Amino acid sequence: MTAAPRLPGDPSSAELVERMIRVDHAGEYGAVRIYEGQLAVLGKSAAAGVIREMADQERHHLERFETLVREHRVRPTALSLLWHVAGYALGAASALLGERAAMACTVAVEEVIDEHYRSQAENLGDDPEQAPLRKTIEEFRADELAHRDLALAHDARAAPAHDLLTAGIKLGSRLAIWLSTRI
Ligand SMILES: [Fe+2]
Ligand SMILES: [Fe+2]
Repeated sequence: MTAAPRLPGDPSSAELVERMIRVDHAGEYGAVRIYEGQLAVLGKSAAAGVIREMADQERHHLERFETLVREHRVRPTALSLLWHVAGYALGAASALLGERAAMACTVAVEEVIDEHYRSQAENLGDDPEQAPLRKTIEEFRADELAHRDLALAHDARAAPAHDLLTAGIKLGSRLAIWLSTRI
């Protein structure tokens, strides 16, 4: 698969890579904060083990993107304080609705991230210079899908107000991606 041809006015490939790293770094940071918020509420519940397992992987994802931010000299998102607060608030609020709602939050976020990482990998195409980044994205995408499956196995679909909750969290996640790519 090759990357789509560039149109006049489109960002250069260096800019595209910078944007990708910026938004992914922001997203992994948000993911860590979501799980910290969930654990603040559910840290002693039956779900704590599985949430901690996912949180550990998100920290690993975040560390990798922190390295990429430094290596590529990417300006991190200016919205990190917002994601610090919003991620934690989303995690805590979903957890307050119960363990199943916390799991539904994970499913909703991971479904959006799956689409997001898939489209990034497609955009990177076969460019050999970007092969390491693409490999990272594909590896993390597989981890995120495993989180989704883990959350589904923990009754995410039985959450109260499941459809509304899912729609709201997906909308918020897409907005966060849009903003962190640009700002
Ligand atoms: Fe992640
Ligand atoms: Fe995840």
